[in-house]
Amino acid sequence: MPSSRIAIFPGSFDPLTNGHLDVIRRTTRLFDRVIVAVLVNQEKRAVFTVDERVAMINEACAGIGEPGQVTGDAFEGLLVHYAARQGACAVVRGLRSGVDFDYERPMALMNAHLAPEIETVCVIGADRLAHISSRLVKEVAGLGGSVEGLLPDAIAQRLVARLRAGKSTRLNSSH
Ligand code: PNS
Repeated sequence: MPSSRIAIFPGSFDPLTNGHLDVIRRTTRLFDRVIVAVLVNQEKRAVFTVDERVAMINEACAGIGEPGQVTGDAFEGLLVHYAARQGACAVVRGLRSGVDFDYERPMALMNAHLAPEIETVCVIGADRLAHISSRLVKEVAGLGGSVEGLLPDAIAQRLVARLRAGKSTRLNSSH
């Protein structure tokens, strides 16, 4: 038995939302350490760089659980290889709906096929946060809607500023 039980919470986190934070909070009650791991995915067009996303995770999670219990990191390649390198016994994923379940099930089964010793733990978040996704939050912010209550204030400010900057760059370059 490992002396400290480590869970990996992987994802894109572009950006981290209050839904993610809820899952992280719940996960700290189950594991000694939680590593929130950003996938380095060159193909995906992201608003924030991987380093920015990890920094925002560390900032937003600083007060969650015991000091140092939650940390941000980045990983490339197979999740189960990264989890094994970290000495993790579990991969945590948040479930909002049956749609999430259908998305998660094949990934959990593939990960179990590749690494049977690593368990996938699905955490059901609070119902009042079930409408939140990074994709929808970016869409709302990009179209000038309020993102209050959807993500930590500091991240919301950065997201609005980043999307505004992107818009002005596009407007300038179209003239
Ligand atoms: O938040 P996301 O974008 O839905 O997260 C998806 C993620 C990062 C969990 C998934 O794409 C992943 O684990 N990628 C790493 C590559 C891998 O291990 N693939 C095979 C197992 S399905």
